[in-house]
Amino acid sequence: MIQSPEHIKNIKPYAPGKPIEELERELGIAHPVKLASNENPVGPSPLAVRALRKRISDLNRYPDGSCHCLGSALSGKLQVRSDEILFGNGSNEIIELAVRTFLSPGDEAIMAHPSFVVYSTIVQAAKGKGIIVPLKDLRHDLDAMASKITNRTKIVFIANPNNPTGAINTKTEMDSFMKKIPEGALVVIDEAYFEYVVSPDYADSMKYFRQGRDILILRTFSKIYGLAGLRIGYGIAKKELIAEMNKVRQPFNVNSPAQEAALAALDDEKHIEKSRKINERGKKYLYKEFRSLNINYAPTEANFIYMTFEDDIVNQLYNDLLKQGVIVRPMGPRAIRVTIGLPGENKKLVEALRKILNSYNFFI
Ligand SMILES: Cc1ncc(COP(=O)(O)O)c(C=O)c1O
Repeated sequence: MIQSPEHIKNIKPYAPGKPIEELERELGIAHPVKLASNENPVGPSPLAVRALRKRISDLNRYPDGSCHCLGSALSGKLQVRSDEILFGNGSNEIIELAVRTFLSPGDEAIMAHPSFVVYSTIVQAAKGKGIIVPLKDLRHDLDAMASKITNRTKIVFIANPNNPTGAINTKTEMDSFMKKIPEGALVVIDEAYFEYVVSPDYADSMKYFRQGRDILILRTFSKIYGLAGLRIGYGIAKKELIAEMNKVRQPFNVNSPAQEAALAALDDEKHIEKSRKINERGKKYLYKEFRSLNINYAPTEANFIYMTFEDDIVNQLYNDLLKQGVIVRPMGPRAIRVTIGLPGENKKLVEALRKILNSYNFFI
């Protein structure tokens, strides 16, 4: 049998959140609640759904490989030129395109831990060297990350807000970090949860883009727009960088229903506002309930909350929650990430946690 090279053999496969259907099949649980993948619990933008229905009969045609209509609309909204935007099959694909375009085997990419695991997988697949910098107080330690830059560093990944902790890096921190970035290194600022952020201290990454820096800003339609199933995200960078990445991408990487739905969702202010409100309310409710359950949690700027425990209870807790019909995301033996759901879903989570933690004598 053909063998994959060592750098591929050593990749740890990505473990997605457990699908609802799988839990229904395995444990026979009807209507489980999935709070494992940071999806929008409100659902897709209704305007996007309507737009999709209209276009469904065109599926025999290839999509517009340049995403022209969506690109023009986004360019107007963001006040950037169309050739400064690149669309991908989810923002995941843009991460992959950036790595395949700018990183040669043996080059280094700096990333935090824990952060979005896809960065390290893709770097490893490209035979690059991932330089891992632990978070400090659950946030990117930007000073430590900058100190790791060498002349082999091609990419620095910053998830802002960070997944899984939900924490942000501030304007001041990012300003000082950007000053330390030498020519020849690309800063990828992953803003998958941008639309959920409420903190006034949130760094304005577009400022660095306007300064002509080597940065790539990532955003997605998978989160607040509720279109995770369609796979569409985008990157913003100066046109020379976009042109290089365009050479590497598949010609029809974004399907036509995704383009159509994203175009409609972009202007669905009502859906965005509703989603943000439900997230804020859910956040406050969960904070209050977690406090009453003595659960440590990190304040979040995204649509998920990171809980930490002092003992290795997470494996057991995850399985016990599954039996109660609640799917969360374990993050090692002492942490769980939970997506903020609809009020009823949050309540189901809290009730399940109360029951299970009580049975462990978790209360002090
Ligand atoms: C930080 C971060 N970046 C990127 C993504 C990828 O999103 P998508 O490929 O759906 O756009 C996710 C998804 O969970 C994420 O959490």
